[in-house]
Amino acid sequence: MENTLTQDEQKFTTLKTEKISHVKKYYIETYGCQMNVADSELIETLLHGEGYEASKDPFDSDVIFVNTCSIREKAEEKIHSQLGRWHLIKKKKPEILIGVLGCMAQNLKHEILENRPYVDIVLGPDSYRRLPELLKRKLKIHDSLIDTKLSRFEVYEGLFPNRKNGVNAWISIMRGCNKFCTFCIVPFTRGRERSRSVESIIYEAEKAVKNGFREVTLLGQNVNSYKFKNHKFHHLLEKISRIPGISRIRYTSPHPEDITDELLYVMREHENITNYIHLPLQSGSNRILKRMHRSYTKEEFLLLARKIRKILPDVGISTDIIVGFPGEDDKAFQSTINVMDKVKFDSAFTFMYSPRIGTKAAEYDDQIPEDTKKLRLERIIQLQKEHSLKRNIQLLGTTQEILIEKESKMSKKQWAGRTDSNKWVIFDKRNSNLNDMVKVFIKDAKGITLQGDLINDLKAA
Ligand code: SAH
Ligand code: SF4
Ligand code: F3S
Repeated sequence: MENTLTQDEQKFTTLKTEKISHVKKYYIETYGCQMNVADSELIETLLHGEGYEASKDPFDSDVIFVNTCSIREKAEEKIHSQLGRWHLIKKKKPEILIGVLGCMAQNLKHEILENRPYVDIVLGPDSYRRLPELLKRKLKIHDSLIDTKLSRFEVYEGLFPNRKNGVNAWISIMRGCNKFCTFCIVPFTRGRERSRSVESIIYEAEKAVKNGFREVTLLGQNVNSYKFKNHKFHHLLEKISRIPGISRIRYTSPHPEDITDELLYVMREHENITNYIHLPLQSGSNRILKRMHRSYTKEEFLLLARKIRKILPDVGISTDIIVGFPGEDDKAFQSTINVMDKVKFDSAFTFMYSPRIGTKAAEYDDQIPEDTKKLRLERIIQLQKEHSLKRNIQLLGTTQEILIEKESKMSKKQWAGRTDSNKWVIFDKRNSNLNDMVKVFIKDAKGITLQGDLINDLKAA
């Protein structure tokens, strides 16, 4: 028989080839906090809904996005240089569309449009639902399309990230911030606080478990000020902890003001809620805390840290500290050191104050010189290293439950995973697999990571 196609078969093949040649590709790069990572996942869902496919190469894409962050000047500089590189791509391939999304879009829309006319779409964090419509419109018109309006309600209800596989699922539970710390741009880029419904969060967590995720991390700019009808954060946390199959629950970022006793008790009662709290100090000086518009004093913070360690023995506590906030003299800086010495955080994210246009602190006239900020930063980095090591050494000789999260950067033969108290442990893979929950004997503490041995192997040896 001759190998020819029937008319119908021919039609089908042509349609298929047409479809393949029309599959549009997107590339997305994400900067900033985990909220941005979670938002990028939502954006990908929207794009897949329009028939787009993910690409790993910006040059081999029809549309390229950068999801941006404005938290410090350095974060914005990175994005500016990335956009500069993308401009070159656009010069070679003019039909490519460039989209700027996220916090910087909100804050810098005019600057972007004046200095970077090659940017096609600018969308703020509350406008992503408009992306499909704008992409279609953009194909017909020349002008840049912008929507950076903030919403009092948008929580992307009903829009779920399509997660394929992995260990941890990020679940955004609330958006925005009402705290207005005087150094921080977030309330301006992200707008007011609003929370998602309990039902949709539970639905998303259950779906993640069904897809094989063992860990969920609840996200929000002020995660523990979550409030939906009569449900507060600890109610939600308790409900999530009862979902069968969830091995670990984390949450970030909380504010010290909203760490309630109820929250600590829920954490104590439920094994699958990790024994870890992020407790951002920012400064240890009452004068500076007040100027920062943080709602606690140094004494209240110390009491809270003590209470947390009492209710949750062996808890891991991390923090955020800013040095060189306007008006921070040597005495104020020393107060920060004193609080660090007293609490001995397990780890710390440390920053030099970076003035953000539009925030109150950027207007203060007693700004601190850059070299003083640098010296102070080096000092607290060094101090924190000592504290982290001290805290880690306490785990030597213990057995820890580790969720295997990724391959170690140092060796293909080793895994990296975290303890219940959020410390990274490196150990030989042997017969264990990614996403396994294993017991590891802690044998060494170097720098900020721990070294261990799989317990099964110890028994076998
Ligand atoms: N909502 C979170 C913080 C998000 S920003 C919270 O309240 O903990 C993360 C950290 O960045 C902040 O805790 C702060 O330490 C730091 N940060 C924010 N604005 C900054 C600025 N203008 N300069 C330097 N660090 C800043
Ligand atoms: Fe920024 Fe303060 Fe809100 Fe955190 S609580 S996001 S630091 S304004
Ligand atoms: Fe950056 Fe926006 Fe997050 S400013 S830290 S991406 S909320």
